[in-house]
Amino acid sequence: MSQTNGTKTTQLRRAAEDAFAEELEALRGADDRPRPPNWLLSPQAVVTYLMGGRLESGFEVTPKYIGDRRLMEVAVATLATDRALLLLGTPGTAKSWVSEHLAAAICGTSRLIVQGTAGTSEESIRYGWNYALLLAKGPSREAVVASPIVRAMEEGRIARVEELTRIPSETQDSFITILSEKTLPIPELNEEIAAARGFNLIATANNRDRGVNELSSALKRRFNTVVLPSPATIEAEIAIVESRVAALGRAFEIPAEPPGADQIRRVVTIFRELREGVTADGKSKVKQPSGTLSTAEAISVVGSGLALAAHFGNGHLSAHDLVSGISGAVIKDPVQDAIVWREYLETVVKERSEWKDFYRAARESA
Ligand SMILES: Nc1ncnc2c1ncn2[C@@H]1O[C@H](COP(=O)(O)OP(=O)(O)OP(=O)(O)O)[C@@H](O)[C@H]1O
Ligand SMILES: [Mg+2]
Repeated sequence: MSQTNGTKTTQLRRAAEDAFAEELEALRGADDRPRPPNWLLSPQAVVTYLMGGRLESGFEVTPKYIGDRRLMEVAVATLATDRALLLLGTPGTAKSWVSEHLAAAICGTSRLIVQGTAGTSEESIRYGWNYALLLAKGPSREAVVASPIVRAMEEGRIARVEELTRIPSETQDSFITILSEKTLPIPELNEEIAAARGFNLIATANNRDRGVNELSSALKRRFNTVVLPSPATIEAEIAIVESRVAALGRAFEIPAEPPGADQIRRVVTIFRELREGVTADGKSKVKQPSGTLSTAEAISVVGSGLALAAHFGNGHLSAHDLVSGISGAVIKDPVQDAIVWREYLETVVKERSEWKDFYRAARESA
């Protein structure tokens, strides 16, 4: 049961609709544009919620997605039609984050969610049975245990599927009827569940995962795909890390100074250079490590560095606090990646005079 008072301060991670309830309320109050059936906000207001902005009353809406506004417009417009939305991209490009905020803004809940894994069953997409009731009374509507997708259909809300391509292909096919017929037959009862207006689906999938199940073309056709790119410029990526780290620092009440812009710039520069295989000035090639170095990892490196600085340092994020996090993120394969990292330190980091403290800290911890 949700206790709105208690959850505010004690819940480790609040859903977007709770964490940003005030913003959503303000947007709702100011929104005079037409809303699609059963939507809480107009498409315009949903995009303002995602991209941030100032309302006429002066109320500030914080940006959630930092990037191309057009992508969010396409995503929101898709959800207002009968096509479902597939957010595709490399790891850490905010697919899950955007999916959560879209669902929260459009229908007030981001919790109607199915996590895709190799073990996701048809039952968890469609419905199961309450066996005690089934045995006692036989098949009845009461004995049907609806999946989050079916609940979204009944309530006319947005359902979310995380990591769609990890679900085995045969199981994925369950979505075809749901998305094309907008109904789900329950043969045992000779009935069907019809989706209420407002129902739609947001799926996320990673286009880097190996060993995943391709989407069948029949299913692909039911989705409009929006590809979320890695941040185009270093400035954009720094802005993302800065705003997320500030939010994390507040959430965990980390008693440290906000990190200096130069520290964040350094982490982001290192990640981008290793990810792209070339230095920022485009002059030298660098070897790429085996793992992914996404914005999400940069956020977590700076976040854990801050915790180190706060609890074991002097409260100021230093190179020393960042080094272990960065090398941990880079070195996923203990042999190959260690070589890549050492080479990067010696050929790139060492040459930058303003990075001396970082070079020293990295050498000391090696
Ligand atoms: N463009 C962006 N704007 C705002 N936040 C971003 C952006 N890119 C990444 N982030 C942040 O990165 C973090 C990770 O994002 P998220 O978990 O949504 O990634 P994902 O694409 O779902 O990755 P995965 O494929 O690993 O599931 C989030 O905290 C999110 O705020
Ligand atoms: Mg994700």
